[in-house]
Amino acid sequence: MEYAIFNQRGPLDHLIPTMKTTLLALAGALPSALTLSFCLVTNAVADGPQTIQPGELWPDDRGQHIQAHGGGIIKYGDAYYWFGEDRTRGLPRDKRYVACYSSTDLAHWTFRHQVVALAPPENLGRGFILERPKVFYNALSNNFVMYAHIDDRQYKYASVAVLTCDKVDGDYQYVKSFRPLNHESRDIGQFIDDDGTAYLIFEDRPFGFRIAKLAPDYLSIEKEMCLIPQHMEGGALVHYHGLYYAIGSALTGWNPNPNRFATATNLAGPWSEFKNIADPEMKTYGAQSTMMLKVVGTKTTTVIFMGDMWRPQTQWDSRYLWMPLEIGDGKLWLNKPAPWTLDVKTGEAVVQK
Ligand code: GAL
Repeated sequence: MEYAIFNQRGPLDHLIPTMKTTLLALAGALPSALTLSFCLVTNAVADGPQTIQPGELWPDDRGQHIQAHGGGIIKYGDAYYWFGEDRTRGLPRDKRYVACYSSTDLAHWTFRHQVVALAPPENLGRGFILERPKVFYNALSNNFVMYAHIDDRQYKYASVAVLTCDKVDGDYQYVKSFRPLNHESRDIGQFIDDDGTAYLIFEDRPFGFRIAKLAPDYLSIEKEMCLIPQHMEGGALVHYHGLYYAIGSALTGWNPNPNRFATATNLAGPWSEFKNIADPEMKTYGAQSTMMLKVVGTKTTTVIFMGDMWRPQTQWDSRYLWMPLEIGDGKLWLNKPAPWTLDVKTGEAVVQK
């Protein structure tokens, strides 16, 4: 508990170390005073915008580092739901797991449920892969539809898995796997346009990466929007002020590389040439794109770059790099990571100097 409170820093950061020392000093002698101060700190911290700290441990409401790697976020009702690979240390190795968290401020995350605990389907055998889960809410069926990269241990199956659930954070049931548009598919991304249309982004190793529109029930692909003939993965898209921005990462496995972006006025293209999103020497500050999240507020709109800082030998300890992007007029730039706050109501992001 102490871990959860003191790692989710807020505008009262400067007070916290002092309070923490005081609380610990009081702990032995005055249990009731401790309880009182403890509540005050909790409330005070929960009130203001909370600091997002790229690259740090990110504790959930239980004080455990969030397990939502290669993840995606949807807004449903008043809350955001973050789904991702659950790589908690010590989980049984014969299954693959997806965790779901919820938040109303995108900084404090409540663990909801381990929504997938899947034994190998399709005779994929031990060591099968279930990566980069993305959930779409389908209003027609009132169902939640999850796509994920599903593969055998050699990454040869190269398909998507579809799982569904009638609750956002319930137990998702495996439905099927397939190759979208009959093409190889490894890293996937999700994109929901401003008009609500849902798209899947997928890496097609022989050709590049594709953007495809989902069918009305989201259980299959309706049509291809475009093939971007660049060999990129970790695909992410955002629609901002009349322009589509696509980010992709080079194919370097778990190792970071300079992620790049292109723009188009239409999803079908033509797409501009790809440019760096940050100083290429920084290799995206050690992160790989998984999504861009647009937060439309009463005052402004912030687009968040969500990336994974993989730790392949200790995956449970992989970190997240979330930063507000500088975006507009065909330009996109990821600044050096620094702690920042977000007001989801106004849409304003403030990066600490
Ligand atoms: C990366 C990919 C990850 C994972 C990894 C395995 O390129 O983005 O999602 O598949 O390779 O090496």
